[in-house]
Amino acid sequence: MIDPSTGESVNPAALEAIFGKELLRQEVSPKPTIDIPQEIREAYLLWRPTPLIRATRLEKYLKTPAKLYYKYEGVSPTGSHKPNTAVAQAYYNMREGIEKLTTETGAGQWGSSLAFAGSLFDLDIEVYMVRVSYEQKPYRKTMMKLYGADVVPSPSTRTEVGKRIREKFPDTSGSLGIAISEAVERCLSLDNTKYSLGSVLSHVLLHQSVTGQETMEQLNSVDEYPDTVIGCVGGGSNFAGLAYPYIVDQQKKPPKETEFIAVESTACPSISRGEYLYDHGDTGRITPLMKMFTVGHEFVPDPIHAGGLRYHGMAPSLSMLIKHGMVKPRAYNQVEALEAAVTFAQQEGIIPAPETAHAIKAMIDEALRCKETGEAKTVVILMSGHGFFDMSAYEAYLKGELQPFELPQERINKTVGSLKGLYPDA
Ligand SMILES: Cc1ncc(COP(=O)(O)O)c(C=O)c1O
Repeated sequence: MIDPSTGESVNPAALEAIFGKELLRQEVSPKPTIDIPQEIREAYLLWRPTPLIRATRLEKYLKTPAKLYYKYEGVSPTGSHKPNTAVAQAYYNMREGIEKLTTETGAGQWGSSLAFAGSLFDLDIEVYMVRVSYEQKPYRKTMMKLYGADVVPSPSTRTEVGKRIREKFPDTSGSLGIAISEAVERCLSLDNTKYSLGSVLSHVLLHQSVTGQETMEQLNSVDEYPDTVIGCVGGGSNFAGLAYPYIVDQQKKPPKETEFIAVESTACPSISRGEYLYDHGDTGRITPLMKMFTVGHEFVPDPIHAGGLRYHGMAPSLSMLIKHGMVKPRAYNQVEALEAAVTFAQQEGIIPAPETAHAIKAMIDEALRCKETGEAKTVVILMSGHGFFDMSAYEAYLKGELQPFELPQERINKTVGSLKGLYPDA
């Protein structure tokens, strides 16, 4: 991370105003593994280990020789993978005497997960929820309130950055980048308060690796090793959680050539059409610069239903793996993603979150490719959440009202172009 005012590397101590000490230690830790404290393990027992399910009905329906597995994180209390890190972050902050956490949420999955974790460890939670999701997903808002959180539509009038953006763009539907700026500003203005991020940072990806480690044990128990690993990507955390333990495993003693595919939305194509350079994590440019694939911190995506895939950047570690060709990017629009999700629901019974639908579309495409080539590949996806709160998306899909949203190049050129020349290697 680079401090934009000096052009120098950020000293982790400088980030202590917004993150707890242990989380910062984990962020820069050179250790290959970090033990999970007993209190977090006990909280995980509410839903972990999660099931790894073979999609046999879907395999038959597609007439594919491929073996399709999904690691189902929708069984968590809030219905996604997000509590894996929410519980850890709440725990470490509580241990350091913190009383309140501020955060942002897109789809509401992260906000509800941190609200849940706050209720477990007795922390106040203040959530800045992207306006379009606040309006599209009223029940996620209720869920956060039920766990005791304070939920604010973003951009709001509670922060200076929110007021500035509302003045400049009165009709804005909001973005994760804006909501992050608000949550960070608010954290800096309150005592005994830290900020909590649901993706992108290395400590978040680390907490998610519990899913990949479990998957490895579960697949080992049936003598399987994946040929293809797939996850959808917003900031990169659920994909990394599944993929990184396998990527590390491949470095040790390459047992097999595994392909890693990260799937994003065509409405916010940071890894397939963005550029790899230093950018801020937020729209208000409060955060340090991170080297990542980005479509620019000023980018405001169209209001797609997969709210969690609307982030302008990508986790720096995942960006690096993509840059080196170890992870392949792919993008689908929300219409083809939900079409795949409906096929999945009709065969496997589970209605996927719209974000997850993008991973499912990639799995189905791989299965169909195997059908053509006759390859019996083992394909594993991280099924990041259920879509029980996303019926408005499915309603729009069933009525044929969903827009595919293919982003025009001029919009990317504009928001990426404005970064060029601003920072050292941009
Ligand atoms: C269900 C679900 N899947 C995927 C994502 C994308 O986030 P990440 O890339 O950090 O896993 C989100 C983000 O909100 C989500 O709610």
